[in-house]
Amino acid sequence: MNLLEVRDLTVTYAGGAAAVRGVDLRLDAGRKLGIAGESGCGKSTLALALLRLLPAATRVGGEILLDGEDVLAMKWGRVRAVRWAGASIVFQGAMHSLNPVHRVGDQIAEPILLHGRATAAGARKRAGELLEQVGLPAARASAYPHELSGGQRQRVMIAMALACDPRLIVADEPTTALDVMVQAQILRLIEQLVADQDVGLIMISHDLAVLADTCDRLAVMYAGRVVEEGPAARVHADARHPYARALSAAFPRIGDPSSRFAPRGLPGDPPDPSALPGGCTFHPRCPVALDSCAVEDPPLREVGAVLRDQPPREADAARRDQPPRETDAAWRAACVRVGQGGADDTGGADDTDRAEEADGADEAGPARRPDGVPRRPGEFTRPGEEARPGTP
Ligand SMILES: Nc1ncnc2c1ncn2[C@@H]1O[C@H](COP(=O)(O)OP(=O)(O)OP(=O)(O)O)[C@@H](O)[C@H]1O
Ligand code: SF4
Ligand SMILES: [Mg+2]
Repeated sequence: MNLLEVRDLTVTYAGGAAAVRGVDLRLDAGRKLGIAGESGCGKSTLALALLRLLPAATRVGGEILLDGEDVLAMKWGRVRAVRWAGASIVFQGAMHSLNPVHRVGDQIAEPILLHGRATAAGARKRAGELLEQVGLPAARASAYPHELSGGQRQRVMIAMALACDPRLIVADEPTTALDVMVQAQILRLIEQLVADQDVGLIMISHDLAVLADTCDRLAVMYAGRVVEEGPAARVHADARHPYARALSAAFPRIGDPSSRFAPRGLPGDPPDPSALPGGCTFHPRCPVALDSCAVEDPPLREVGAVLRDQPPREADAARRDQPPRETDAAWRAACVRVGQGGADDTGGADDTDRAEEADGADEAGPARRPDGVPRRPGEFTRPGEEARPGTP
């Protein structure tokens, strides 16, 4: 049984915004799932739905099975028992999530006391231990949030999330607004905790590169739907959905000279969730859209077999001797050009024809980069770049 299985989750806010539309996800204990997407695509809504933290008038449908038990069908008493102990959340923006008038040690101790896991003295002691576990001296328990740096506050949030030994941690943009050094420290800390304690992690970010570096699997959301889901490194390096490709190409890769010619963004904005376009919701921005895309909304389809012999990353050394699981291999994308007749046709680096078609379909510039690599759909040149042959 999966630690978490989300089936056909839909969330519609009171004003009519369809923020999450038919999302399916699965996560095993000890594994890390990244969720990426532009601002407003429904990432936080999905995270809040997992713990039933959405406003009362919100309509939520589908199933959220945590260890086989449907969170959406639970009575409130059971939901309260599951929060913190079954699943916990590290919220977006630590400063706004911590109570400014309480010492951080008391805030960490609070869920321990609420769940009756220790006496007041025991909870204070445990709060100190948790602070040490996330790399802060236990003495910082007496600090108020404003006395800590952004990175320290984020560590406090992680300590809180760990307070009741949850099976699942949902981290919503845990490193946004932190400098790159602190971001790297926090990410390694989260990875280590997942490996040591065998919890499942859902990490949300707009930064595909961070997720690819941290997570086993990656789901890319657009307008409330998962449009691509697969092994994190594969999706980042060779995304098949045109939106996921554009999102991935928006972050230059260190050591890849061709990424100097990659785009700095995708034209247009994501749609308003209260007035979604018909067909594939990405079609108004898609550089390789077909006429049918304005009416047809394709489901997720298998992209193809993924090699199972990829070695686990350093932080996952404990998995080296484990057999691969079925969910490790699946790779799906929701595009009419994917999965038909076994070949996908979305303009990958190995698909010259499609890149040329994409080139003709928008103003992205020549079909090939100066180094001869076919351009991806939505990839731009900056003025003057083509005039510098041989530029790395
Ligand atoms: N309480 C709410 N009431 C009505 N609409 C909401 C509410 N919260 C979010 N929305 C809308 O739902 C959509 C998804 O919002 P959400 O916060 O889930 O996006 P996100 O992917 O987390 O974005 P970001 O990367 O900026 O955090 C947005 O269009 C947003 O305006
Ligand atoms: S090709 Fe069509 S279905 Fe695929 S992402 Fe573009 S608009 Fe959507
Ligand atoms: Mg958010």
